[in-house]
Amino acid sequence: MDVFRTKSIEQSLKDTEDPEFQLKRRLTALDLTVFGVGVIIGAGIFTLTGRVAQANAGPGVVFSFAIAAVCCGLAALCYAEFASTVPVSGSAYTFSYATLGELIAWIIGWDLLLELMLGASVVAQGWASYFETFLDEIGVSWPSGLGYGDDFNLAAFLLVVVLTALVAYGIKESLRVNLVLVAIKLFIVLFVIVVGIGFINTDNYRPFVPPSEPVDGGTEWLHTPLLQLVTGSPAAYGVGGVLFAASLVFFAYIGFDVVATTAEEAAHPQRDLPRGIIGSLVICTVLYMAVALVITGMVKYDKINPDAALAQAFVDQGKDGYATLISAGAVAGLTTVVMTLIIGAVRVTFAMSRDHLLPKTIGQVSHKTGTPIRLTLAIGTVVAIVASVTPVGKLEEMVNIGTLTAFFLVSIAIPILRRRRPDLKRSFKVPLSPFLPWLSAAICLFLMINLTAETWLRFLVWMAIGFAIYFAYGYQNSRVGRGQGEPAHDYSR
Ligand code: ALA
Repeated sequence: MDVFRTKSIEQSLKDTEDPEFQLKRRLTALDLTVFGVGVIIGAGIFTLTGRVAQANAGPGVVFSFAIAAVCCGLAALCYAEFASTVPVSGSAYTFSYATLGELIAWIIGWDLLLELMLGASVVAQGWASYFETFLDEIGVSWPSGLGYGDDFNLAAFLLVVVLTALVAYGIKESLRVNLVLVAIKLFIVLFVIVVGIGFINTDNYRPFVPPSEPVDGGTEWLHTPLLQLVTGSPAAYGVGGVLFAASLVFFAYIGFDVVATTAEEAAHPQRDLPRGIIGSLVICTVLYMAVALVITGMVKYDKINPDAALAQAFVDQGKDGYATLISAGAVAGLTTVVMTLIIGAVRVTFAMSRDHLLPKTIGQVSHKTGTPIRLTLAIGTVVAIVASVTPVGKLEEMVNIGTLTAFFLVSIAIPILRRRRPDLKRSFKVPLSPFLPWLSAAICLFLMINLTAETWLRFLVWMAIGFAIYFAYGYQNSRVGRGQGEPAHDYSR
């Protein structure tokens, strides 16, 4: 049994030359950076920051953002080297198929699905909270029982339905629309920072890292970070709380890896992808740390509203008008994140069905719209259901563990690819390899063990389902396994 068979890089590149799947190469480094910032800034900063500061880290969440940024920065370097070597759509899935073999590629693809589908659901929930805050501010009431935090999150459901319809119809990430929305988002984030500074009360920073508090027994172990369980010191706040918070706010950085999925649309992918990935990450890190500092300075950490923290901080200061502006900006800005994540999920599953690891029929492209309609509708349905019926604040960890696993594997793939294919042209190289790629893998692993026991259990179930599908279906049907003869576009008919 050869589960480590690889798809050659040359074959991956050849698949993209198929005229039916060729994308226009026109994106510049600036476009890619804007695209990156557009995907990255989302529910993480608008909702998660407040919740995590309140429950886990206090103002120490600033350190959590710094730790998560180091993890993402190192992973970004690895992504950048990969993307500059294998400029093919499909992100880490494609990279790893070329290097680590089919089984690892499948695992990464399966993890990316967790990241992108659940990520879209989480951001839709964040969108709904700001949407309802906004309606509330302008005096419109939303049906009770059908809201954010209730049994059925109608707003999140409707958002996903509309966006899925647009994606299925063939709306792509329009650079122009994206530019406007990114501008709005940046304006709101800068507004929070600049105006918020005036409301900071430095007393709120004492203590900067609240002392650790032991947590109660019972089923609480499920909600305790794995590391604390193993070391026998379950506690909220303190150093453990800051580390746990780092593994949570990691969510806010997710998306820079999606820039790598645009590899086929970049004019000079080998030069500009690394710039776009790293540039967008640096911008977001600076903004996030500043917002965290401002919010925890404006409101004492235990008084922060866990749902719409940024807007509520201004309501608390009697600035309702500012809160309305922030909510409106969040509603506009989060929309594109949900849409981009849905498109990302479609792209990854599309690549997997192009390789026949998933049934090729689900990837079939519709003649009318030129998009894989079935796949889009299937993904949209899952995202809509998950966003509307799961409790708020429970899914981020699953998204993070899926993403961290993918980052971990991408990091260890760098030294492997250097050894196996020293001949490939690499216009960007991770400095100090193999030390930095290993460090990147180690930090990813460290953040993973700071996630809760419950998340680990759920993740193991998700992986078990993935393995079952691979061995029952993918292994037998894989195009690579059956020889690479088939033309890439055969399933579009
Ligand atoms: N980083 C994205 C967000 O925070 C997923 O919404």
